[in-house]
Amino acid sequence: MNKLLTILTALFLGSLICSCQEHRWAQSGKTDTASSYNEQHRSQFHFSPEANWMNDPNGMFFYEGEYHLFYQYYPDSTVWGPMHWGHAVSTDMVHWQHLPIALYPDSLGFIFSGSAVVDWKNTSGLGENAQPPIIAIFTHHDMAGEKAGRQDYQYQSIAYSNDRGRSWTKYEGNPVVPNPGNIRDFRDPKVIWDDASNQWVMVFAAFDHIKLYGSKDLKSWTHLSDWGKEYGAHGGVWECPDMFPITVEGTGEKKWVLLQSLNPGGANGGSGTQYFVGDFNGKNFTLDAAFEPLVKDGKAVWLDYGRDNYAGVTWSDIPKDDGRRLFIGWMSNWDYATVVPTETWRSATTLPRELMLKKTSEGYRIFTQPVKELQALRTASHKIERAAVAGVLDLTPQLGFSPVQMELILEFEYEAGVPADFGVALSNAKGEQYRIGFDAAAKQFYSDRTKAGHLSFSDKFGAKPHVAPRFSKDKTVRFHLFFDVASAELFADDGTTVLTDIFFPGENFNQVKIYAWKGKVKVLNGDAYSLKSIWK
Ligand code: FRU
Repeated sequence: MNKLLTILTALFLGSLICSCQEHRWAQSGKTDTASSYNEQHRSQFHFSPEANWMNDPNGMFFYEGEYHLFYQYYPDSTVWGPMHWGHAVSTDMVHWQHLPIALYPDSLGFIFSGSAVVDWKNTSGLGENAQPPIIAIFTHHDMAGEKAGRQDYQYQSIAYSNDRGRSWTKYEGNPVVPNPGNIRDFRDPKVIWDDASNQWVMVFAAFDHIKLYGSKDLKSWTHLSDWGKEYGAHGGVWECPDMFPITVEGTGEKKWVLLQSLNPGGANGGSGTQYFVGDFNGKNFTLDAAFEPLVKDGKAVWLDYGRDNYAGVTWSDIPKDDGRRLFIGWMSNWDYATVVPTETWRSATTLPRELMLKKTSEGYRIFTQPVKELQALRTASHKIERAAVAGVLDLTPQLGFSPVQMELILEFEYEAGVPADFGVALSNAKGEQYRIGFDAAAKQFYSDRTKAGHLSFSDKFGAKPHVAPRFSKDKTVRFHLFFDVASAELFADDGTTVLTDIFFPGENFNQVKIYAWKGKVKVLNGDAYSLKSIWK
């Protein structure tokens, strides 16, 4: 997003951050434009700020029954600007309570993306009263330095909290990882405690690779290694990595996963997140031998094939007895995020998701599932009976509720060799339509928002359908879908292929149909649920 940064920088030359801003927000305590979350296009069961600009999720950790979510936030406008960390907490990752802004820009710069950890053993010495301090690790972006033509305007810093994340103090020794002087893209630290090597490990992005650093106390860091220049997609700048251990489902085996966002160069253009599977020995990340061919010569394996899941990372400090690897992403794309047609706020997060690593006949793959906590949102439900569809099966009259906030689980079966193109269409009286389906001949899932309403705000938004490969060879194709006013999330074949896209219909989609354009398809069974708003 370098180009973007430069353009936006120009827009914000005058708004250099000062303590007065910090003071104003400290006084008001909370965003002062409380929203009723009734606006057109407003997500009803995804997190979004009450007002103004949001991008990446940051600093997620769990502590004393609370999931914390911070996010890149500019409280003074609906476009990107001097970055703060907005803050919200939840007891279930689904319902959120907004809290005051956690981190404000300061003399070292804007507060760019990063992570947070619970320092259980007070290794940092920053704790008080025998409580573990929470340490946030983030990038300081020195806008003045960038404008002055310096190369070293990004560096890693820390802040700490001794009151369950409610208030934060910047560490006086910042930055903790200075810029070596010549790496302009040097950002987005994600920190984890590694038991095996008995150290904190930080990964962050440095233009076309990641840098790994180690520390005993979160304050003093040593360079361990670099990785990634020769692997994966490099159509754009690498940003927001996340590296974590994970137990392979159904085994005791431990592997390491590296999530790596990049912009542009995503699966279907613009921002996207790829992943790598391998091992970490306390110093180096190495690729799993069977995974390596998939990410050689510019090839990539994508966490999500839609256009709208970027900069996602996982929660820190999820209790061992829970054991899940929990993820949330930014549900937008730098290709158009600043111009989408929402008036008072911009962007939502993806649904919270669980990432699992499974060993398939083709090697290790991440499977993604919506978290089970989302089931609490189900209100009305409807069973979809077995049916053969050739053409259109209109579900609208049988549902008894609007598809505008809906979870839909469908099992399809198609005959091998018979061309089939089937899926789910949302539409409205304006003749606008969104389709998400499977093209059996191409063995591809697709999401088609090319006729789904407002498109003209960006020529990159509705240019063509977005496609995703199908990995499973099973005759049964499983769709697990979530529609929330202005977004669709598909977890196909138990989360092997994931596709997240946003759209902006002129009026809400109130009709839903199953279709089979070519050939025919059997609907084996299905369940539809109306989902309630998390804001009302
Ligand atoms: C990713 C990103 C990060 C950066 C932040 C700035 O979307 O570009 O690399 O820290 O956004 O807001």
